[in-house]
Amino acid sequence: MKKIAVLTSGGDSPGMNAAVRAVVRTAIYNDIEVYGIYHGYQGLINDDIHQLDLGAVGDTIQRGGTFLYSARCPEFKEESVRQRGIENLRKRGIEGLVVIGGDGSYRGAQRISEECKDIQTIGVPGTIDNDINGTDFTIGFDTALNTIIESVDKIRDTASSHARTFIIEVMGRDCGDLALWAGLSVGAETIILPEVDTDIKEIAERIENGIKRGKKHSIIMVAEGCMSGEECSKELLKYINVDARVSVLGHIQRGGSPSGQDRVLASRLGGYAVELLLDGKTALGVGIRNNALTSTPFEEIFRNNKHEFDYNMFKLTKELSI
Ligand code: F6P
Repeated sequence: MKKIAVLTSGGDSPGMNAAVRAVVRTAIYNDIEVYGIYHGYQGLINDDIHQLDLGAVGDTIQRGGTFLYSARCPEFKEESVRQRGIENLRKRGIEGLVVIGGDGSYRGAQRISEECKDIQTIGVPGTIDNDINGTDFTIGFDTALNTIIESVDKIRDTASSHARTFIIEVMGRDCGDLALWAGLSVGAETIILPEVDTDIKEIAERIENGIKRGKKHSIIMVAEGCMSGEECSKELLKYINVDARVSVLGHIQRGGSPSGQDRVLASRLGGYAVELLLDGKTALGVGIRNNALTSTPFEEIFRNNKHEFDYNMFKLTKELSI
């Protein structure tokens, strides 16, 4: 293999730059030319592909977002559109592609590997949602978690001054990990997640009992994949009369300088993706399990389309918030 390409796709996540840097530097270290595909699959179709040298990734490890830009590209599901992109790789002699993104991005890579045997593909999990099979953690999850913690710590100050209940809506798509980990970290009274049935009446009773016991404020963490903060507030007010406010953290969760954890994870996974390409491997998603690097065939990643949920951790959050 002499030439590879790398792209970032889907919702950006802090640490994507560190992953691109690791891909570029590992490849160049191994005498491979690297091409950056700008704007994800859209750039692949539009031939927005440029060679990257060592300097192109200098001063990027600490930056949030992705300097390769990202995009959502539903057209890539069409075979004729995909073929245009594949031709843009072939005409440069590119034989390996590293796709950094979430599961939608992995599907594009899987299609390429199925349709052309001359191009190997490896997926690197980059999303704040932590919703990808085959890895304990995705790149960006830890930074987003820390952003939520910092925000809620601030909200807690005003919640306490005004003796209010705050409902915090966090991202995560269909996965409750951000809400679960953040809820545990900030000592939320209640966590509402897609993976666990929600009984609003029981939650209302808990809040009411807390107030009777002298609690001055409460934090309810809601995963967007279960319900919105506003819906939660409406439901809650059917059972109790509390002074509640909703705070939707939104895209702030996707920004910021990556945490140490995310920089290390991104560097390890980016380097490993190139090693797998050099080993002739294809159609795999890389990941980390019990702190060891692993790879899982795309087919298997999609077969059990659900990231493992930690019910023990959820149980613990309930025990700690009585
Ligand atoms: O997948 C990352 C994510 O931030 C999700 O948590 C969220 O549901 C979605 O992307 C938002 O997407 P967009 O930025 O396209 O509105």
